[in-house]
Amino acid sequence: MRVLVVGSGGREHALCWALRQSPLCRAVFCAPGNAGIAAEATCVSIAAHDTNALIAFAQAQGIDLVVVGPEEPLVKGLADHMTAAGLRCFGPSAQAALLEGSKGFMKDLMARHGVPTAEYGRFQTPTDARAFAHALGGPVVIKADGLAAGKGVILCHTLAEAESAIDAVMVRRAFGPAGAEVVVERLLVGEEISFFALVDGTTALPLATVQDHKAVGEGDTGPNTGGMGAYSPAPVVTPELEEEIMARIIRPTVQGMAVEGRPFRGVLFAGVMITADGPKVLEFNVRFGDPECQVLMLRLKSDILPLLMASCARELASMEVDWHDQASLIVVMAARGYPGDYVRGSIIRGLDTVAALPAVKVFHAGTRIDDLGRFCADGGRVLGVTAVGATVAAAQAQAYDAVAALDWPEGFCRRDIGWRAITHTTRQG
Ligand code: AMP
Ligand code: GLY
Repeated sequence: MRVLVVGSGGREHALCWALRQSPLCRAVFCAPGNAGIAAEATCVSIAAHDTNALIAFAQAQGIDLVVVGPEEPLVKGLADHMTAAGLRCFGPSAQAALLEGSKGFMKDLMARHGVPTAEYGRFQTPTDARAFAHALGGPVVIKADGLAAGKGVILCHTLAEAESAIDAVMVRRAFGPAGAEVVVERLLVGEEISFFALVDGTTALPLATVQDHKAVGEGDTGPNTGGMGAYSPAPVVTPELEEEIMARIIRPTVQGMAVEGRPFRGVLFAGVMITADGPKVLEFNVRFGDPECQVLMLRLKSDILPLLMASCARELASMEVDWHDQASLIVVMAARGYPGDYVRGSIIRGLDTVAALPAVKVFHAGTRIDDLGRFCADGGRVLGVTAVGATVAAAQAQAYDAVAALDWPEGFCRRDIGWRAITHTTRQG
Protein backbone atom coordinates (compact mmCIF):
# COMPACT_ATOMS: atom_id res chain seq x y z
CA MET A 1 0.00 0.00 0.00
CA ARG A 2 0.99 3.58 -0.66
CA VAL A 3 0.16 6.06 2.10
CA LEU A 4 0.07 9.86 2.22
CA VAL A 5 0.28 11.59 5.61
CA VAL A 6 -0.88 15.22 5.69
CA GLY A 7 0.85 17.60 8.13
CA SER A 8 4.30 18.73 9.23
CA GLY A 9 4.73 18.25 12.98
CA GLY A 10 5.99 15.71 15.49
CA ARG A 11 2.66 13.88 15.36
CA GLU A 12 3.00 13.37 11.62
CA HIS A 13 6.64 12.30 12.04
CA ALA A 14 5.50 9.60 14.48
CA LEU A 15 2.69 8.49 12.16
CA CYS A 16 5.12 8.19 9.21
CA TRP A 17 7.58 6.28 11.39
CA ALA A 18 4.88 3.81 12.52
CA LEU A 19 3.42 3.41 9.03
CA ARG A 20 6.83 2.68 7.55
CA GLN A 21 7.17 -0.31 9.84
CA SER A 22 4.03 -1.90 8.45
CA PRO A 23 4.86 -4.89 6.25
CA LEU A 24 1.81 -3.88 4.20
CA CYS A 25 3.24 -0.45 3.46
CA ARG A 26 5.24 0.01 0.25
CA ALA A 27 5.65 3.81 0.27
CA VAL A 28 5.00 6.67 2.67
CA PHE A 29 4.66 10.27 1.48
CA CYS A 30 4.19 13.30 3.70
CA ALA A 31 2.79 16.68 2.67
CA PRO A 32 4.51 18.95 3.48
CA GLY A 33 6.56 17.12 6.18
CA ASN A 34 9.79 18.48 7.69
CA ALA A 35 13.52 17.73 7.79
CA GLY A 36 13.10 14.86 10.27
CA ILE A 37 10.14 13.32 8.48
CA ALA A 38 12.29 13.16 5.34
CA ALA A 39 14.15 10.24 6.98
CA GLU A 40 10.98 8.11 7.03
CA ALA A 41 8.91 9.40 4.13
CA THR A 42 9.15 11.18 0.81
CA CYS A 43 8.21 14.77 1.60
CA VAL A 44 6.20 16.63 -1.02
CA SER A 45 5.87 20.39 -0.79
CA ILE A 46 2.09 20.69 -0.73
CA ALA A 47 0.50 22.58 2.16
CA ALA A 48 -2.01 20.77 4.39
CA HIS A 49 -4.72 23.24 3.32
CA ASP A 50 -4.13 22.86 -0.44
CA THR A 51 -6.97 20.39 -0.99
CA ASN A 52 -6.85 20.33 -4.78
CA ALA A 53 -3.11 19.75 -4.94
CA LEU A 54 -3.32 17.00 -2.30
CA ILE A 55 -6.06 15.21 -4.25
CA ALA A 56 -4.18 15.54 -7.53
CA PHE A 57 -1.02 14.17 -5.92
CA ALA A 58 -2.83 11.26 -4.27
CA GLN A 59 -4.51 10.31 -7.53
CA ALA A 60 -1.35 10.61 -9.61
CA GLN A 61 0.63 8.52 -7.10
CA GLY A 62 -2.03 5.82 -6.66
CA ILE A 63 -2.29 6.49 -2.92
CA ASP A 64 -4.30 3.79 -1.11
CA LEU A 65 -4.75 5.65 2.18
CA VAL A 66 -4.56 9.33 3.18
CA VAL A 67 -3.96 10.01 6.90
CA VAL A 68 -4.74 13.56 8.02
CA GLY A 69 -2.79 14.74 11.08
CA PRO A 70 -4.06 18.24 12.04
CA GLU A 71 -7.60 19.39 12.82
CA GLU A 72 -7.87 22.40 10.57
CA PRO A 73 -8.04 20.59 7.20
CA LEU A 74 -10.53 18.11 8.72
CA VAL A 75 -12.81 20.88 9.99
CA LYS A 76 -12.62 22.42 6.50
CA GLY A 77 -13.70 19.16 4.86
CA LEU A 78 -10.48 17.58 3.54
CA ALA A 79 -11.77 14.06 4.29
CA ASP A 80 -15.04 14.79 2.44
CA HIS A 81 -13.18 16.10 -0.63
CA MET A 82 -10.83 13.11 -0.61
CA THR A 83 -13.74 10.69 -0.36
CA ALA A 84 -15.66 12.47 -3.12
CA ALA A 85 -12.56 12.11 -5.32
CA GLY A 86 -12.60 8.35 -4.74
CA LEU A 87 -9.71 8.31 -2.24
CA ARG A 88 -9.65 6.46 1.10
CA CYS A 89 -9.08 8.93 3.91
CA PHE A 90 -8.53 8.34 7.63
CA GLY A 91 -10.18 11.17 9.59
CA PRO A 92 -13.66 12.56 10.19
CA SER A 93 -15.95 14.37 7.76
CA ALA A 94 -16.42 18.13 8.28
CA GLN A 95 -19.78 17.43 9.93
CA ALA A 96 -18.15 15.10 12.46
CA ALA A 97 -15.06 17.32 12.89
CA LEU A 98 -17.40 20.03 14.20
CA LEU A 99 -16.84 18.30 17.53
CA GLU A 100 -13.52 20.18 17.59
CA GLY A 101 -14.45 23.00 15.19
CA SER A 102 -17.16 24.45 17.43
CA LYS A 103 -16.91 24.30 21.20
CA GLY A 104 -20.57 25.31 21.45
CA PHE A 105 -21.59 22.37 19.24
CA MET A 106 -19.41 20.05 21.35
CA LYS A 107 -21.03 21.19 24.61
CA ASP A 108 -24.59 20.98 23.22
CA LEU A 109 -23.92 17.48 21.87
CA MET A 110 -22.73 16.37 25.30
CA ALA A 111 -25.78 17.95 26.93
CA ARG A 112 -28.12 16.15 24.51
CA HIS A 113 -26.50 12.78 25.20
CA GLY A 114 -25.82 13.02 28.92
CA VAL A 115 -22.00 13.10 28.66
CA PRO A 116 -20.49 14.55 31.86
CA THR A 117 -18.89 17.97 31.33
CA ALA A 118 -18.69 21.37 33.07
CA GLU A 119 -21.86 23.49 33.40
CA TYR A 120 -21.82 26.04 30.54
CA GLY A 121 -23.57 28.60 28.38
CA ARG A 122 -23.06 29.77 24.75
CA PHE A 123 -23.09 33.50 24.03
CA GLN A 124 -22.97 35.83 21.06
CA THR A 125 -22.71 39.09 23.00
CA PRO A 126 -20.22 40.12 25.69
CA THR A 127 -23.07 41.40 27.88
CA ASP A 128 -24.73 38.00 28.02
CA ALA A 129 -21.40 36.23 28.51
CA ARG A 130 -20.52 38.51 31.44
CA ALA A 131 -23.93 38.04 33.05
CA PHE A 132 -23.56 34.25 32.89
CA ALA A 133 -20.02 34.36 34.33
CA HIS A 134 -21.43 36.40 37.24
CA ALA A 135 -24.31 33.97 37.69
CA LEU A 136 -21.95 30.98 37.79
CA GLY A 137 -19.82 32.76 40.40
CA GLY A 138 -16.39 31.29 41.22
CA PRO A 139 -13.68 30.43 38.70
CA VAL A 140 -14.77 30.08 35.05
CA VAL A 141 -13.25 29.29 31.67
CA ILE A 142 -13.84 31.46 28.60
CA LYS A 143 -13.55 29.64 25.26
CA ALA A 144 -13.63 31.04 21.75
CA ASP A 145 -16.13 28.88 19.85
CA GLY A 146 -14.02 28.24 16.75
CA LEU A 147 -10.53 26.90 16.07
CA ALA A 148 -7.79 29.11 17.52
CA ALA A 149 -4.65 26.97 17.07
CA GLY A 150 -5.04 25.64 20.61
CA LYS A 151 -5.02 29.14 22.12
CA GLY A 152 -8.68 30.14 22.46
CA VAL A 153 -9.18 28.96 26.06
CA ILE A 154 -8.67 31.29 29.04
CA LEU A 155 -8.81 30.03 32.62
CA CYS A 156 -10.16 32.74 34.94
CA HIS A 157 -9.88 32.53 38.71
CA THR A 158 -11.71 35.79 39.40
CA LEU A 159 -14.66 37.62 37.83
CA ALA A 160 -12.34 40.47 36.86
CA GLU A 161 -10.22 37.99 34.86
CA ALA A 162 -13.37 36.60 33.26
CA GLU A 163 -14.48 40.09 32.21
CA SER A 164 -11.16 40.88 30.62
CA ALA A 165 -11.08 37.47 28.89
CA ILE A 166 -14.55 38.06 27.43
CA ASP A 167 -13.38 41.46 26.26
CA ALA A 168 -10.22 40.01 24.67
CA VAL A 169 -12.07 37.21 22.85
CA MET A 170 -15.33 38.93 21.82
CA VAL A 171 -14.51 42.62 21.57
CA ARG A 172 -10.83 42.77 20.69
CA ARG A 173 -11.06 39.47 18.76
CA ALA A 174 -7.70 38.19 20.00
CA PHE A 175 -8.45 34.88 18.24
CA GLY A 176 -10.09 36.43 15.17
CA PRO A 177 -13.48 35.20 13.94
CA ALA A 178 -13.25 32.18 16.30
CA GLY A 179 -14.39 34.61 19.03
CA ALA A 180 -17.70 35.64 17.46
CA GLU A 181 -19.29 33.26 19.95
CA VAL A 182 -17.97 32.06 23.32
CA VAL A 183 -18.60 29.23 25.70
CA VAL A 184 -18.49 30.24 29.35
CA GLU A 185 -18.10 27.27 31.68
CA ARG A 186 -17.21 26.35 35.21
CA LEU A 187 -13.53 25.69 35.88
CA LEU A 188 -13.02 22.06 36.79
CA VAL A 189 -10.45 20.94 39.32
CA GLY A 190 -8.63 17.62 39.19
CA GLU A 191 -6.01 15.73 37.21
CA GLU A 192 -6.22 15.95 33.42
CA ILE A 193 -5.67 13.06 31.03
CA SER A 194 -5.76 12.62 27.24
CA PHE A 195 -8.03 9.76 26.20
CA PHE A 196 -7.84 8.36 22.66
CA ALA A 197 -10.11 5.96 20.80
CA LEU A 198 -10.13 4.79 17.20
CA VAL A 199 -13.67 5.07 15.88
CA ASP A 200 -15.34 3.74 12.71
CA GLY A 201 -18.76 5.40 12.98
CA THR A 202 -20.17 2.98 15.53
CA THR A 203 -17.37 1.03 17.27
CA ALA A 204 -14.77 2.71 19.49
CA LEU A 205 -11.48 1.00 20.33
CA PRO A 206 -9.60 2.65 23.22
CA LEU A 207 -5.86 3.27 22.80
CA ALA A 208 -3.23 3.20 25.58
CA THR A 209 -3.50 5.77 28.37
CA VAL A 210 -1.58 9.06 28.12
CA GLN A 211 -1.01 12.30 30.01
CA ASP A 212 0.58 15.41 28.61
CA HIS A 213 2.04 18.56 30.14
CA LYS A 214 0.44 21.68 28.68
CA ALA A 215 2.09 24.41 30.74
CA VAL A 216 5.44 25.78 29.62
CA GLY A 217 6.95 25.85 33.12
CA GLU A 218 8.12 23.20 35.56
CA GLY A 219 5.54 22.05 38.09
CA ASP A 220 2.89 22.72 35.38
CA THR A 221 3.07 26.49 35.79
CA GLY A 222 3.03 29.39 33.32
CA PRO A 223 1.19 29.82 30.04
CA ASN A 224 -0.31 26.87 28.15
CA THR A 225 1.41 25.50 25.07
CA GLY A 226 0.57 22.84 22.49
CA GLY A 227 2.23 20.39 24.90
CA MET A 228 5.73 20.27 26.44
CA GLY A 229 5.85 16.54 27.02
CA ALA A 230 3.78 13.38 27.52
CA TYR A 231 4.03 9.80 28.69
CA SER A 232 2.22 6.49 28.47
CA PRO A 233 0.86 4.66 30.38
CA ALA A 234 -0.80 7.15 32.74
CA PRO A 235 -1.06 5.26 36.05
CA VAL A 236 -3.91 7.54 37.20
CA VAL A 237 -6.12 5.84 34.60
CA THR A 238 -6.92 2.50 36.20
CA PRO A 239 -8.72 -0.18 34.16
CA GLU A 240 -11.92 0.73 36.08
CA LEU A 241 -11.56 4.41 35.18
CA GLU A 242 -10.87 3.51 31.55
CA GLU A 243 -14.09 1.48 31.44
CA GLU A 244 -16.00 4.35 33.07
CA ILE A 245 -14.67 6.79 30.44
CA MET A 246 -15.64 4.40 27.65
CA ALA A 247 -19.12 3.85 29.10
CA ARG A 248 -19.97 7.41 30.13
CA ILE A 249 -18.03 9.50 27.61
CA ILE A 250 -16.72 7.77 24.48
CA ARG A 251 -19.55 5.36 23.61
CA PRO A 252 -22.40 7.87 24.24
CA THR A 253 -20.56 10.47 22.13
CA VAL A 254 -19.97 8.07 19.25
CA GLN A 255 -23.57 6.90 19.42
CA GLY A 256 -24.87 10.48 19.70
CA MET A 257 -22.93 11.55 16.63
CA ALA A 258 -24.25 8.55 14.67
CA VAL A 259 -27.85 9.17 15.75
CA GLU A 260 -27.54 12.82 14.72
CA GLY A 261 -26.37 11.86 11.24
CA ARG A 262 -22.71 12.79 11.75
CA PRO A 263 -21.04 9.41 12.19
CA PHE A 264 -17.53 9.92 13.55
CA ARG A 265 -14.62 8.10 11.94
CA GLY A 266 -11.00 8.68 12.88
CA VAL A 267 -9.34 9.35 16.23
CA LEU A 268 -11.59 10.70 18.95
CA PHE A 269 -9.42 12.49 21.52
CA ALA A 270 -11.14 13.49 24.75
CA GLY A 271 -9.42 15.84 27.17
CA VAL A 272 -10.80 14.54 30.46
CA MET A 273 -10.60 16.03 33.95
CA ILE A 274 -10.74 13.43 36.71
CA THR A 275 -12.75 15.37 39.27
CA ALA A 276 -13.96 14.40 42.75
CA ASP A 277 -17.25 13.86 40.92
CA GLY A 278 -15.85 11.45 38.34
CA PRO A 279 -14.42 12.01 34.85
CA LYS A 280 -15.68 15.06 32.93
CA VAL A 281 -14.92 16.17 29.39
CA LEU A 282 -12.92 19.39 28.98
CA GLU A 283 -12.92 19.17 25.21
CA PHE A 284 -12.98 16.84 22.24
CA ASN A 285 -10.42 16.82 19.47
CA VAL A 286 -10.84 14.94 16.21
CA ARG A 287 -7.24 13.82 15.65
CA PHE A 288 -4.20 12.44 17.47
CA GLY A 289 -2.69 14.71 20.13
CA ASP A 290 0.73 16.21 19.61
CA PRO A 291 2.91 15.12 21.51
CA GLU A 292 0.66 12.28 22.72
CA CYS A 293 0.80 10.54 19.33
CA GLN A 294 4.57 10.19 19.59
CA VAL A 295 4.47 8.22 22.87
CA LEU A 296 1.55 6.10 21.62
CA MET A 297 3.38 5.16 18.41
CA LEU A 298 6.45 4.03 20.37
CA ARG A 299 4.28 1.69 22.46
CA LEU A 300 2.08 0.42 19.64
CA LYS A 301 2.84 -3.25 18.96
CA SER A 302 0.07 -3.85 16.41
CA ASP A 303 0.53 -2.84 12.81
CA ILE A 304 -1.03 0.63 12.56
CA LEU A 305 -2.06 0.35 8.92
CA PRO A 306 -4.85 -2.28 9.28
CA LEU A 307 -6.21 -0.29 12.25
CA LEU A 308 -6.50 2.93 10.24
CA MET A 309 -7.97 0.98 7.32
CA ALA A 310 -10.53 -0.67 9.62
CA SER A 311 -11.64 2.75 10.85
CA CYS A 312 -12.31 3.78 7.24
CA ALA A 313 -14.03 0.46 6.38
CA ARG A 314 -16.24 0.41 9.52
CA GLU A 315 -14.56 -2.82 10.63
CA LEU A 316 -13.09 -1.92 14.02
CA ALA A 317 -15.40 -4.37 15.80
CA SER A 318 -13.17 -7.21 14.57
CA MET A 319 -9.88 -5.53 15.55
CA GLU A 320 -7.66 -5.55 18.65
CA VAL A 321 -4.76 -3.28 19.56
CA ASP A 322 -1.64 -4.64 21.24
CA TRP A 323 0.86 -2.52 23.15
CA HIS A 324 4.41 -3.04 24.31
CA ASP A 325 4.70 -3.39 28.09
CA GLN A 326 7.39 -0.73 28.13
CA ALA A 327 6.51 2.84 29.06
CA SER A 328 7.33 5.76 26.79
CA LEU A 329 7.95 9.43 27.43
CA ILE A 330 8.56 12.49 25.27
CA VAL A 331 10.39 15.68 26.20
CA VAL A 332 9.51 18.52 23.82
CA MET A 333 12.34 20.90 23.02
CA ALA A 334 11.18 24.35 21.99
CA ALA A 335 12.93 27.47 20.73
CA ARG A 336 13.68 30.00 23.51
CA GLY A 337 10.75 32.37 23.97
CA TYR A 338 8.04 29.82 23.05
CA PRO A 339 5.02 30.03 23.51
CA GLY A 340 5.62 33.76 23.01
CA ASP A 341 7.80 35.19 20.28
CA TYR A 342 10.72 32.78 19.84
CA VAL A 343 14.23 32.60 18.37
CA ARG A 344 14.17 31.43 14.76
CA GLY A 345 16.57 29.50 12.54
CA SER A 346 19.13 28.40 15.17
CA ILE A 347 21.38 25.40 14.41
CA ILE A 348 20.82 22.08 16.18
CA ARG A 349 23.83 19.76 16.61
CA GLY A 350 24.17 16.28 18.05
CA LEU A 351 21.19 14.63 16.33
CA ASP A 352 23.54 11.94 14.91
CA THR A 353 24.82 11.02 18.37
CA VAL A 354 21.28 10.75 19.69
CA ALA A 355 20.14 8.67 16.69
CA ALA A 356 22.57 5.95 17.85
CA LEU A 357 20.90 5.59 21.28
CA PRO A 358 18.84 2.37 21.22
CA ALA A 359 15.94 3.39 23.46
CA VAL A 360 15.53 6.86 21.96
CA LYS A 361 13.75 8.29 18.93
CA VAL A 362 13.72 11.99 18.11
CA PHE A 363 10.58 13.11 16.32
CA HIS A 364 10.94 16.46 14.57
CA ALA A 365 8.19 19.01 15.15
CA GLY A 366 9.67 21.96 13.27
CA THR A 367 13.03 21.60 11.54
CA ARG A 368 14.51 22.31 8.13
CA ILE A 369 17.88 21.75 6.49
CA ASP A 370 19.84 24.93 5.76
CA ASP A 371 22.03 25.64 2.73
CA LEU A 372 25.01 23.99 4.43
CA GLY A 373 23.05 20.83 5.19
CA ARG A 374 22.60 21.55 8.91
CA PHE A 375 19.42 20.99 10.92
CA CYS A 376 17.77 24.31 11.87
CA ALA A 377 14.89 25.13 14.17
CA ASP A 378 11.82 26.04 12.13
CA GLY A 379 9.01 26.66 14.60
CA GLY A 380 8.18 27.06 18.30
CA ARG A 381 8.09 23.40 19.23
CA VAL A 382 11.08 21.95 17.40
CA LEU A 383 12.01 18.44 18.60
CA GLY A 384 10.34 15.66 20.56
CA VAL A 385 12.96 13.57 22.32
CA THR A 386 11.12 10.31 22.92
CA ALA A 387 12.33 7.23 24.81
CA VAL A 388 11.12 3.88 26.09
CA GLY A 389 11.94 2.16 29.38
CA ALA A 390 10.65 -0.46 31.79
CA THR A 391 8.84 2.29 33.73
CA VAL A 392 7.95 5.93 33.09
CA ALA A 393 10.90 6.86 35.34
CA ALA A 394 13.29 4.74 33.25
CA ALA A 395 11.97 6.24 30.00
CA GLN A 396 12.36 9.69 31.53
CA ALA A 397 16.04 9.01 32.39
CA GLN A 398 16.73 7.86 28.81
CA ALA A 399 15.00 10.88 27.31
CA TYR A 400 16.93 13.38 29.45
CA ASP A 401 20.25 11.62 28.66
CA ALA A 402 19.44 12.19 25.00
CA VAL A 403 18.53 15.84 25.65
CA ALA A 404 21.94 16.26 27.30
CA ALA A 405 23.64 14.84 24.20
CA LEU A 406 22.10 17.51 21.96
CA ASP A 407 23.93 20.76 21.36
CA TRP A 408 21.29 23.44 20.88
CA PRO A 409 21.83 26.50 23.10
CA GLU A 410 18.79 28.30 21.66
CA GLY A 411 16.46 25.48 22.70
CA PHE A 412 14.91 24.63 26.07
CA CYS A 413 12.77 21.96 27.66
CA ARG A 414 11.02 21.23 30.93
CA ARG A 415 13.07 19.09 33.30
CA ASP A 416 10.15 17.39 35.07
CA ILE A 417 8.17 15.63 32.32
CA GLY A 418 6.44 12.60 33.83
CA TRP A 419 6.43 13.77 37.44
CA ARG A 420 2.80 12.88 38.05
CA ALA A 421 3.24 9.31 36.80
CA ILE A 422 6.45 8.89 38.76
CA THR A 423 4.76 10.17 41.94
CA HIS A 424 1.76 7.87 41.42
CA THR A 425 3.95 4.83 40.86
CA THR A 426 6.05 5.60 43.89
CA ARG A 427 2.95 6.07 46.01
CA GLN A 428 1.57 2.74 44.88
CA GLY A 429 4.94 1.10 45.57
P1 AMP B 1 -8.86 23.27 24.87
O1 AMP B 1 -8.20 24.32 24.00
O2 AMP B 1 -10.33 23.25 24.82
O3 AMP B 1 -8.11 22.01 24.61
O4 AMP B 1 -8.50 23.58 26.38
C1 AMP B 1 -7.17 23.74 26.70
C2 AMP B 1 -6.94 23.34 28.11
O5 AMP B 1 -7.62 24.23 28.98
C3 AMP B 1 -7.45 21.97 28.51
O6 AMP B 1 -6.61 20.96 28.10
C4 AMP B 1 -7.47 22.15 30.02
O7 AMP B 1 -6.17 22.05 30.56
C5 AMP B 1 -7.96 23.57 30.17
N1 AMP B 1 -9.43 23.62 30.37
C6 AMP B 1 -10.39 23.69 29.43
N2 AMP B 1 -11.61 23.70 29.99
C7 AMP B 1 -11.44 23.67 31.33
C8 AMP B 1 -12.31 23.66 32.47
N3 AMP B 1 -13.64 23.72 32.35
N4 AMP B 1 -11.76 23.60 33.70
C9 AMP B 1 -10.41 23.53 33.84
N5 AMP B 1 -9.55 23.54 32.83
C10 AMP B 1 -10.03 23.61 31.58
N1 GLY C 1 -1.37 17.89 23.22
C1 GLY C 1 -2.69 18.35 23.09
C2 GLY C 1 -3.20 18.49 21.72
O1 GLY C 1 -2.67 17.94 20.77
O2 GLY C 1 -4.20 19.16 21.53
